[in-house]
Amino acid sequence: MKIIATLPKGSDRALNPLLPDECERIIAERIGDLSDEQIAGSDAMIATAYNPLAAEDIARLEGVKLIQQLGIGTDSIDLDAAKRAEIPVCNVPTANIDAVADFAVMAMIYCLRKVGAAETESRENKRIDRLVLKLGSFDMAGKRVGIIGFGNIGRAVAKRAGAFGTEVVYSDPIAADEETERALGAKRVPLDELIETSNVISVHAPLVDATRGLIGAPEFARMKKKVVFVNTARGGIVDEAALADALKSGQVGAAAVDAFEVEPIEESNPLLDAPNAMLTCHIAGVTTDCIKTMYREAVENCLRVIRGEAPINRVV
Ligand SMILES: NC(=O)c1ccc[n+]([C@@H]2O[C@H](COP(=O)([O-])OP(=O)(O)OC[C@H]3O[C@@H](n4cnc5c(N)ncnc54)[C@H](O)[C@@H]3O)[C@@H](O)[C@H]2O)c1
Repeated sequence: MKIIATLPKGSDRALNPLLPDECERIIAERIGDLSDEQIAGSDAMIATAYNPLAAEDIARLEGVKLIQQLGIGTDSIDLDAAKRAEIPVCNVPTANIDAVADFAVMAMIYCLRKVGAAETESRENKRIDRLVLKLGSFDMAGKRVGIIGFGNIGRAVAKRAGAFGTEVVYSDPIAADEETERALGAKRVPLDELIETSNVISVHAPLVDATRGLIGAPEFARMKKKVVFVNTARGGIVDEAALADALKSGQVGAAAVDAFEVEPIEESNPLLDAPNAMLTCHIAGVTTDCIKTMYREAVENCLRVIRGEAPINRVV
């Protein structure tokens, strides 16, 4: 048996102990780093959102029986090309729900309380009370939190945000059942209403054709003045230049962005110069706790396919 994997540097430490001794493994940072000889004879490939698989990459995976994404979003993989090549693509859909939801709510509070500015000023021994009050420092309680995408993570965010005394609304093409809405205290509203009435907006939709560029300059202009905007989903859903402009003008009071159109974040990314922006490079779903489960579930699926069984959590 043979598994190839494209993983960030050092991640082989997490993968290696999970693979049976007899499993040949070739681990690289990018598929472009692997030669055809290294790929030949592989049963399964483990991929991550950090290293996209384009159609020409998938064309090199002849004989591979599974592309196993290490995470939830599969937008980094050309799914049509995988379908044409008849290679199933699977994800790990539940391992890091809590991690992303915790991070999103932390980011909301970080933005509302202007923690970034306060921390910088504190290190310089400035009188931070005045600065923070000048910038505006706000409670969660009483705020309307608008969640775009009410799947596993959106619902986990709703549960947490509700516990802080917020009013939760969501937008999703698929309505949650009444029981779920009641349990989470969340109300479905049209996207326009969510955009125009929320004090805090958090994006949890997948990057697909319908969500590409979903939030741009017209949407930021319609948001409440000084809205807090959090994106832990995917960069392509939000127009980064428009968000940077909205932060500069003060239309958006503060933003937290964990996913960028191009990762790692490029030096030319306009958000790097924007005020009140908390920028992290795709770490919301990565904790020491959940990463173990994610790797284990990914490896188990590869071994399932190698044993001739059907993989679970198939996306295409
Ligand atoms: N930053 C990170 O580290 C990280 C980690 C995990 C997941 N993610 C991102 O979070 C996304 C959501 O994850 P999930 O587990 O909740 O997925 P999920 O599939 O459970 O939920 C996605 C929800 O979005 C909804 N949706 C689809 N199109 C929409 C639209 N046009 N408008 C509003 N909602 C729409 C779907 O109906 C679904 O309810 C993933 O696709 C991934 O891109 C990021």
